[in-house]
Amino acid sequence: MPELIVSLDISERKNAEAIIEKLSSSVIFYKIGAIPFTAFGPEIIRQLVFSGKKVFLDLKFFDIPNTIENTVQCACSMGVELLTVHILGGRNMLKAAVRARNRTNPGTRIIGVTILTSFSDDDIKEIGFSDDINKQVLNLAEIGYDCGIDGIVCSVQELGFLRKRFGPPFLMVCPGIRAKLSDDDQKRTATVSQAVKAGADYIVVGRPVIESENPLLVVEQFKKEIIENEAR
Ligand code: C5P
Repeated sequence: MPELIVSLDISERKNAEAIIEKLSSSVIFYKIGAIPFTAFGPEIIRQLVFSGKKVFLDLKFFDIPNTIENTVQCACSMGVELLTVHILGGRNMLKAAVRARNRTNPGTRIIGVTILTSFSDDDIKEIGFSDDINKQVLNLAEIGYDCGIDGIVCSVQELGFLRKRFGPPFLMVCPGIRAKLSDDDQKRTATVSQAVKAGADYIVVGRPVIESENPLLVVEQFKKEIIENEAR
């Protein structure tokens, strides 16, 4: 059954802690991305790990291999469960990340970012890709798989063909999840039931939870939807 990850895209530490407190009975997996990490640093990661929560460190590392090897080593030593690197960083960078993980904390899973869920076909053409999103995602996923990373971030819309090519245990982490299909900066969105049916391993939800008047209620609804669709 897919696990729900709540994305703590919050710039005030006390507000992030308030959400964690509100969700404490229901959520054990949190994503720390660029917003909280830049605003108040890595302490929140240690705090979450110390209190028995799981952390998805989503800083989408993309740099030269030596920098990535050292950065991934730091992240793994904090005990994060998942971390992201951009597959666009290329083979040498991905292999450096896997090497650092293997010697530091074999329990950390390295997840490759393919094409961000905020991109459309027109967006990737503008930055110079000639393939459409599906082809580009598949190509990047092949490179990541070949280099020994543990899974990818992708949109639910790509899960069908990706799951056919990459069975478990290759992990599929899906953001861009909405209660109803909506229109914001995310272009390739899906509902929880679509994500479950298509074979997601992790469902990442940010704003629908953290901007809600009642985050616990929203989480409970998402979890119910996961269970109902998994049972079918
Ligand atoms: O608020 P929302 O549910 O759109 O949050 C989705 C989260 O997942 C954000 O933190 C975003 O940075 C992250 N993410 C994404 N697309 C990716 C990788 C990560 O939306 N390809």
